[in-house]
Amino acid sequence: MNQEQAIELTDLEVSFERNARRITAFTGVSLRADAGRFVVLIGPSGCGKSTLLRAIADLLAVGAGKVHVFGKAPAQVREARRISFVFQDATLLPWRTVLENVRLPLEVGNWRQVGRPNRKPEDLIRLVGLAGREDALPHELSGGQRQRVSIARALVTNPDILLMDEPFGALDEITRDRLNDELLRIWRETRTTIVFVTHSLSEAAFLGQSVVVMGVNPGRIIEEIDLDARKPDNRIDRATTEFFTITSELRAILERAYGDTARS
Ligand SMILES: Nc1ncnc2c1ncn2[C@@H]1O[C@H](COP(=O)(O)OP(=O)(O)OP(=O)(O)O)[C@@H](O)[C@H]1O
Ligand SMILES: [Mg+2]
Repeated sequence: MNQEQAIELTDLEVSFERNARRITAFTGVSLRADAGRFVVLIGPSGCGKSTLLRAIADLLAVGAGKVHVFGKAPAQVREARRISFVFQDATLLPWRTVLENVRLPLEVGNWRQVGRPNRKPEDLIRLVGLAGREDALPHELSGGQRQRVSIARALVTNPDILLMDEPFGALDEITRDRLNDELLRIWRETRTTIVFVTHSLSEAAFLGQSVVVMGVNPGRIIEEIDLDARKPDNRIDRATTEFFTITSELRAILERAYGDTARS
């Protein structure tokens, strides 16, 4: 296993100015993830999960602390297009077909100058289970299928890091379970480092090699649970007692995080 450090956050703080008031999104956040790791981030609404992903992707200015992505400043990594994002909403271009949407990142911005090999859009469409639907338009697809297209699109630049912000939040539970199975299969095949935000505890228990729990007021990390020993090779059967135990443990920690909210 490659032990290269993909993400290293040291004592990170991000705050926003709003109406001459400073709002601290989170403070004192330190986190490390080895290359190829699957990290899940959970926590109450407003604790700074999306902001944390944006800080890793260099989409906002950091107030204090350091962000290193593969040992480099995130701006360098962003310029080399080594990070991809998947949002809750698939955000596909409605007039482009599945294939054209997946190809899009290779047509915009500076991809040609980046000079890194990309993945073949057709292969990725197969990987996400949409072979045969290359010519479909987004409105002809279900929500789950659209999300698969956005995952294929995120992978086309062959990123080293995939940041996923509640990508399956709008889907029913069975579809979500299926896409979780698929995502793990894709992760095994690509070994991309993934940071995945969710509000679903079962999704967190199923996907994560480690689960980072954040609290609010101020946004911060309250606990990091390492599941390696309990999920060998990051595999777990959802019908097992162990799976329920992990989910309940996450719930208990998260309830503490919400308890903090009630007090503040
Ligand atoms: N661009 C912005 N300007 C001002 N404040 C912001 C901005 N983005 C986020 N915030 C604030 O930072 C805090 C963290 O927001 P963030 O969106 O990261 O939370 P979250 O954990 O992703 O929540 P949710 O689970 O609801 O998606 C919130 O208080 C939010 O209002
Ligand atoms: Mg969010």
